[in-house]
Amino acid sequence: MSILSVENLKAHYVTEKRRKITRVLAVDGVTFHINKNEIYGIAGESGCGKSTLLKAMSGLIKPPLQVLEGEVKYHFDDRELDILALRGEKERREIRGARISHIPQGSMSVLNPVRRIRKSFEDIVGTHLGIRGGSEFEELVKSHIEALGLDWNVMHSFPHQLSGGMRQRITIALATILKPDVIFADEPTTALDVVVQRGVVQLIKKIKQEQQNTMVIVTHDLAIHANLCDRLAIMYAGRIVEEANVDDMFQTPKHPYTEMLLNSLPTLGDRSVRESAPGAPPSLVNPPSGCRFHPRCPKVMEKCRLEVPELIEVESGHQVACFLQEGRVYEQTRELGANYH
Ligand SMILES: Nc1ncnc2c1ncn2[C@@H]1O[C@H](COP(=O)(O)OP(=O)(O)O)[C@@H](O)[C@H]1O
Ligand SMILES: [Mg+2]
Repeated sequence: MSILSVENLKAHYVTEKRRKITRVLAVDGVTFHINKNEIYGIAGESGCGKSTLLKAMSGLIKPPLQVLEGEVKYHFDDRELDILALRGEKERREIRGARISHIPQGSMSVLNPVRRIRKSFEDIVGTHLGIRGGSEFEELVKSHIEALGLDWNVMHSFPHQLSGGMRQRITIALATILKPDVIFADEPTTALDVVVQRGVVQLIKKIKQEQQNTMVIVTHDLAIHANLCDRLAIMYAGRIVEEANVDDMFQTPKHPYTEMLLNSLPTLGDRSVRESAPGAPPSLVNPPSGCRFHPRCPKVMEKCRLEVPELIEVESGHQVACFLQEGRVYEQTRELGANYH
């Protein structure tokens, strides 16, 4: 059952500099569904629109970002919610605190430096639950903090007294204290060293176990996705190019872009230096025609320069936007057809 459905979402940034208006189409026609209680990953190189997609899905839309088209609908047990149709920022903020929680990219550096950690918890719990200090506050926060394996003493610290890893854990604890139905985490492990990353991954798993929420995790780091996610979408230049469950994605990747990303991963015991993916994603001001990956694709065909491949299901639950696959499906259907005649 899906808890969130996104239909043909298009969002762009409009900026003006010396009377010249620039339009960056960062999310360009994204359609997908998130199942209740799953951990859904979104991967792709930097600049592919991952953070923008997350912002639009959690209703964090303010200039220069604008949603052009599409729907973002939540299907909670007690209500349906079209987050883009909510008028006021106040309404969206209420939903964001209690039902959905967005942990933005680089969030561990936004903890207020002149306030103790406890203050940040007081703000959230006070605003949303009306509990301001006292034993009720302590009980609530303590049980949450301790369930996540954090020490109550951190409450008395200032952010600069804590390590980067600890600050990130605090940010995640803050974002989950209200037990939201859906949690969006944008690059939660980026900028942390590998050992600390592992701690953050464990923390995310623990929250999922304790609270049974649905999670959407964005990172360019495929190893994290392999470790954490049930299903995975690969984004390239504002579009989803492949979606599958994590095992299928890693074992039988079908889009040449996914293959390129997987080939640049180091494998265990392999000491040779892996090539990073050659080239870079295109500018989204004036993206390439046809399949946006075509200028970098080792398997490019004439058609790829001219036409946009649609995301199609090639195996159960495995979707790909690539003309190579379209050919395969066509061949299969023709064979099936031949068998009938
Ligand atoms: N505030 C902004 N103003 C203008 N362009 C932006 C802004 N934020 C992001 N972009 C552009 O939108 C595109 C997608 O960015 P982003 O969603 O951050 O990608 P990702 O998270 O995959 O790295 C990029 O081309 C980026 O430069
Ligand atoms: Mg990002």
